[in-house]
Amino acid sequence: MTMRKMPLILSIAAALAGTALAQDAGKSVWQGVFTADQADRGSAVYAERCGACHGAALNGTGEAPALVGGEFVSHWDTMTVGDLYDRVRTTMPQNDPQSLSREDYADVLAFLLKNNGFPAGAQPLDRRSEVLATIGITAEKPASTGS
Ligand code: HEC
Repeated sequence: MTMRKMPLILSIAAALAGTALAQDAGKSVWQGVFTADQADRGSAVYAERCGACHGAALNGTGEAPALVGGEFVSHWDTMTVGDLYDRVRTTMPQNDPQSLSREDYADVLAFLLKNNGFPAGAQPLDRRSEVLATIGITAEKPASTGS
């Protein structure tokens, strides 16, 4: 008897999974997920709190890795902006983690995205990790971003 119910449950699960995938596919760093103003604010935060270690041109110094270029982007390829945000928020600045406001972390992230060649748009990056977790990072521009 319960066997009759199984296919229904499975098809609901499949439908839900399909919805989640469709949403994931719908948002990407290639779609303008931060504003130019936000990246400008992030530039000041970067200079004050990050540049001493990561370099004024973001290309790294000593132990601190470059935050621009192919190696950086391929490291984060297939992850989300939320992953990068949480990584930065919880571990950076390395000598004083979690010392910035969420807004400043979002701004500095916008600055990093801009410097890696991702386009600015109309909406600022959100301050909430769970919202940023819906934005995928891909090194290659997807063919179907529709923008
Ligand atoms: C005191 C030096 C120092 C400061 C200041 C600092 N960092 Fe770092 N950062 C490091 C070091 C060293 C590493 C590599 C070790 C590690 O991964 O924790 C690192 C790693 C990173 C990574 C990981 C890179 C990757 O591809 O895995 C990111 C992103 C990052 N830092 C961003 C920032 C941002 C943004 C700021 C400013 C808010 C900042 N850091 C400030 C030293 C620093």
